[in-house]
Amino acid sequence: MGIETSCDDTSCAVVEDGSRVLSNVVSSQTEIHRKFGGVVPEEASRRHLELMLPVIDEALVRAEVDARDISAVGVTFGPGLVGSLLVGLSTAKAFAFGLGIPLIGINHIEGHIYANFLQYPDLMPPLVALVVSGGHSEIFYLPEHGRYEIMGRTRDDAAGEAFDKVARILGLGYPGGAVIDRLAKEGNPGAIEFPRAYLEEGSLDFSFSGLKTAVLNYVKRNRDRGFKVQDVAASFQEAVIDVLVDKLLRAARLKGVTKVALAGGVAANTRLRERLWEAARGEGFEVFIPDPDLCTDNAAMIAAAAYRRYLGGERSPLCLDAVPNLELGSPIS
Ligand code: KG4
Ligand code: ZN
Repeated sequence: MGIETSCDDTSCAVVEDGSRVLSNVVSSQTEIHRKFGGVVPEEASRRHLELMLPVIDEALVRAEVDARDISAVGVTFGPGLVGSLLVGLSTAKAFAFGLGIPLIGINHIEGHIYANFLQYPDLMPPLVALVVSGGHSEIFYLPEHGRYEIMGRTRDDAAGEAFDKVARILGLGYPGGAVIDRLAKEGNPGAIEFPRAYLEEGSLDFSFSGLKTAVLNYVKRNRDRGFKVQDVAASFQEAVIDVLVDKLLRAARLKGVTKVALAGGVAANTRLRERLWEAARGEGFEVFIPDPDLCTDNAAMIAAAAYRRYLGGERSPLCLDAVPNLELGSPIS
């Protein structure tokens, strides 16, 4: 079983043998946070408390299994909002203790990457993965299961955060990624030349705050004259994607790997998926991208990551604490 409550989605999944999703229940709180224009941490943890047990019940019912059939519980213990993390973690501990089964703490980012192993059961490292979500934009090298080297990260906003902020500038509401994705399909990606922050020569880091400011300035400058929202959405999106695809493929070439993977909420973006397939295939890379509902926060990806650690004999103590700024990967020498 996987349990995920790191941000504003309450999720529980039952996965068999690390690859067969029997159920993956995600109760989104988007409607609650929408009126505030973002996630309100206190509100999120209160909702998790209300939703956690019904979501677990639903996951068991949909999977058609009894709680006693579960062999281990994987749970996100970081990174994320501390109050939100604690709800899932405390529940998972109670579940593991009550049933006498192992508890396995999982890094949320590792979970996102493992959505790929869930989607493609034959996939094996080494590979290079780009994790792009509301809180993260990072490139990892995975020489083998469970080992991560961070090759690049954002220096300011995460890619998803940039989508959300630009959506707010354009008055499209929250969260913005999916709306921009949809509107961009009716716009011209070459209409406005927004900046691409490649940073210094050879850097695999990202920076999206300058791009967000450029969109804001464009909107202010053209407010009276009027502009086509679809063109702004498409041109902004293209600027983000150009840099993401370029740096991911550069990282893969540096490591000499043939497999590249996408993960995280922004990996649900239609145009990013298309552009990566095109660019990577042209160079002979194999591309791995989970289905959109496995890209955004869900517990099946957590169960998949936990299964691998379970097989490796890993167990977490019942005193495991939530770690809001948990990191994944340090340089491999
Ligand atoms: O991974 P995720 O569900 O939660 C975090 O761990 O942050 O990612 C949420 C982020 C949000 O910023 C949302 O706007 C973005 O993913 N997102 C998208 C799309 N769907 C979700 N961004 C671009 N295009 C999409 N289709
Ligand atoms: Zn996430």
